[in-house]
Amino acid sequence: MGKSDTRWFVHDRFGMFIHWGIYAMPARHEWVKQREEMSDEKYDIYFKYFNPDLFDATQWAKIAKQAGMKYAVITTKHHDGFCLFDSKYTDYKATNTPAKRDLIREFVDAFRSEGLKIGFYYSLIDWHHPHFTIDSLHVLRNHPEREKLNQSRDMNKYREYLHNQVRELLTNYGKIDIIWFDFSYPPRPNAPADWVGKGRQDWDSENLVKLVRSLQPHIIMNNRLDLPDQWDFLTPEQIGVPEALTVDGKPVVWEACHTFSGSWGYHRDEESWKSVDVLVKMLIDCVSKDGNLLLNVGPTARGEFDNRALERLKGIGEWMRYHSRSIYGCTKAPDEFKAPNDCRLTYNPETNRLYIHIFSWPFKFLKVDFGDRIEYAQLLNDGSEIPLQKIKYPYVRTADKEEEIQMETLILPVKKPDVCVPVIEVFLK
Ligand code: GLC
Repeated sequence: MGKSDTRWFVHDRFGMFIHWGIYAMPARHEWVKQREEMSDEKYDIYFKYFNPDLFDATQWAKIAKQAGMKYAVITTKHHDGFCLFDSKYTDYKATNTPAKRDLIREFVDAFRSEGLKIGFYYSLIDWHHPHFTIDSLHVLRNHPEREKLNQSRDMNKYREYLHNQVRELLTNYGKIDIIWFDFSYPPRPNAPADWVGKGRQDWDSENLVKLVRSLQPHIIMNNRLDLPDQWDFLTPEQIGVPEALTVDGKPVVWEACHTFSGSWGYHRDEESWKSVDVLVKMLIDCVSKDGNLLLNVGPTARGEFDNRALERLKGIGEWMRYHSRSIYGCTKAPDEFKAPNDCRLTYNPETNRLYIHIFSWPFKFLKVDFGDRIEYAQLLNDGSEIPLQKIKYPYVRTADKEEEIQMETLILPVKKPDVCVPVIEVFLK
């Protein structure tokens, strides 16, 4: 693990995930073909009519940038096998739809010129390729003639296709900063007896890694190739991580990926959208545990971010405009600093500043048990001073007596500042 230099990645902390493909048309989850066990013929209707006439990559890049995102990872191909890029190894690609163009090329050009780093998601799984064998996750998993169909499938041919496409992606688009493979599902000890999955042998992960690193030696690679120690970062998905991640007791680089609503691809009727408040807290929580956040947008079939996504991105951007100092270049706080009640801490080792993110606004007094380390404190949104005082808390009970204790306390305004998560910037001695 940790083959590449991840310093920029760890510094930047916040990226945009983009799941886009012809599944934006059924608009009911990117796994729709698999979930509904649709035949190729049925699914082809989307290929036939895919026409994102409003797609403007520059607009996407500007929106990502305004939200405070520093890099973006896009699905060059998802599990349905459809390629947004112009691959010479398949006809199943955007250039052959009414879109008629290499959408990845436009994405790369636009995001790069806005100064964002470029990541490619590539699905190892492929439910379109005729030689991808039918396994327990495949669209045809329940087909009565599954075994017979598999006899004419040759994974060697699919593997070759996979390696060829990765070579194309890492050769034809200039410098690529991140490669994000998805995903392996080898049989696990507790899997049902008839479970058929795929893993490192199916992808020839060892050689795939060599190929990737030879074409783009600086690239940062995720951990879904089913190889225990070849990755640069871990990818907890749609889950809050309880503490900074470690492997064999050593801290590792990690990036949580999350959706706005539960679906990665555009989902018209999904209503469980997270609020701006929750999303901002998710970002802070990741950084406070030494992680990154990759937040997903599922653009529509016409090529736009819908209003629900725009509203969230705008809200996050408003918060980031004032508070990005507590995110970029920040890490988990050194152990000597304990987060006060309802707070998360981040720390910038270069400036030696500590950031207290207040998730629930208290009444006036924020006790800090590292008060003697504070030289000066201010609210980050307006740079207004937050005084530090030794306050007497008279009614603290110990086992057998009432005692007066004194504690360093930050004195907050009674009224919560008008930002979703207020932050106190602490200049340490
Ligand atoms: C899962 C899903 C997939 C999504 C990915 C993002 O692996 O299969 O649809 O692209 O998560 O992490």
